[in-house]
Amino acid sequence: MFSSRAAWNLTPNSLSIAIARRRAAGRPFDDLTESNPTRAGLALDYGDSFEALASEPVTRYEPDPRGLAVARDAVGDYYRARGLTVDPERVVLAASTSEAYGWLFKLLCDPGDDVLVAHPSYPLFDDLARLEGVSLRPFALTYEGRWELDLDGLRDAITPRTRAVLLVHPNNPTGSFIDRETLEALVAVCSARGLCLVADEVFGDYGWAPDAGRVESFVDVSAVLTFTLSGLSKVVALPQVKLGWIVVGGPDAQRAEALARLEMIADCYLSVAAPAQHAAAGFLARRGAVQAAILARVAANRAALRRALGDGSRATLLAAEGGWYAVLRVPRTHTEEQWVLALLERDDVLVHPGWFFDFAREAFLVISLLPPEATFAGAIARVVARIEDDLA
Ligand SMILES: Cc1ncc(COP(=O)(O)O)c(C=O)c1O
Repeated sequence: MFSSRAAWNLTPNSLSIAIARRRAAGRPFDDLTESNPTRAGLALDYGDSFEALASEPVTRYEPDPRGLAVARDAVGDYYRARGLTVDPERVVLAASTSEAYGWLFKLLCDPGDDVLVAHPSYPLFDDLARLEGVSLRPFALTYEGRWELDLDGLRDAITPRTRAVLLVHPNNPTGSFIDRETLEALVAVCSARGLCLVADEVFGDYGWAPDAGRVESFVDVSAVLTFTLSGLSKVVALPQVKLGWIVVGGPDAQRAEALARLEMIADCYLSVAAPAQHAAAGFLARRGAVQAAILARVAANRAALRRALGDGSRATLLAAEGGWYAVLRVPRTHTEEQWVLALLERDDVLVHPGWFFDFAREAFLVISLLPPEATFAGAIARVVARIEDDLA
């Protein structure tokens, strides 16, 4: 009765069963997987920018498939403030970056085509690709004191049906950026093999320290067709407003053709709400204070994590450069599932197992750095104590 695209295995896994049981029993726990910025107890100041959601222009329906000029101009201004040039004519709005992925897969791939994606990475890609009949071919993001793309692995993963290389920049959950040298190599591979680049930069404003060696953004890549994704979800911590965007870059003729075809796809949905578009400039204008508050929270929690680990812990905090997550390598004396279930049942803390993000091997825990500081400090102390005890 149902399509193979929707043939998910909906059987709950042991972790979701354990969580549901605890909730049903009214036994609270500290959730160190919480990365919803509207539930993290952050006092974010948007001034009066929510008022634009109910302003007079919102009473009219004047859809533009690429998005209203007022909102695309606001996206251009956002990049200009970051020292980057983005003509609003290169911008296509979507209701979210997730929707934008669906549109890009429709634009670039026939059913059965494939897209390369670095692992570990954002877990939603599996479902987003599957819904468009697209396969994902992983290549490794490896860790040797810092995260690096395995470019040989990337080249080996290319098939005659590969259409694009998908990168999250900085990556979720590893918090790693692409450096300039790696970008040059990526562009060379894509040019030689006729592939596009898709760069998800939703966390692009959340680098923890300046670094001249890293790529600031993919919006100015000009040698290959490149789609850079972002949106209000992370840039101003407003996932509920539902506004994302695609910046199209690359050689002129390909870029023009991609924009024309994307416009046709967007015209089939016209999914971006007028209120979100009219409010976009106001929200984006508040990003300085919003991002400062989030970066302060992330820094405080990462410092608490370092303090809890101290010297000589059995767990290692992996190096990262940005984002909202921490990755802990823990002893392989137990599986990730055993660690995570023990932390939930015995220590009242929920963390993500590495497999959720497609780590190539065990044992890693992924921890959100967004929860309130007092909650985080208490919970992370219990996590570290449990690791030192080795589930004794
Ligand atoms: C890497 C990455 N891309 C996209 C998204 C989703 O963004 P949106 O709300 O715009 O769909 C997330 C959300 O966590 C994310 O981590």
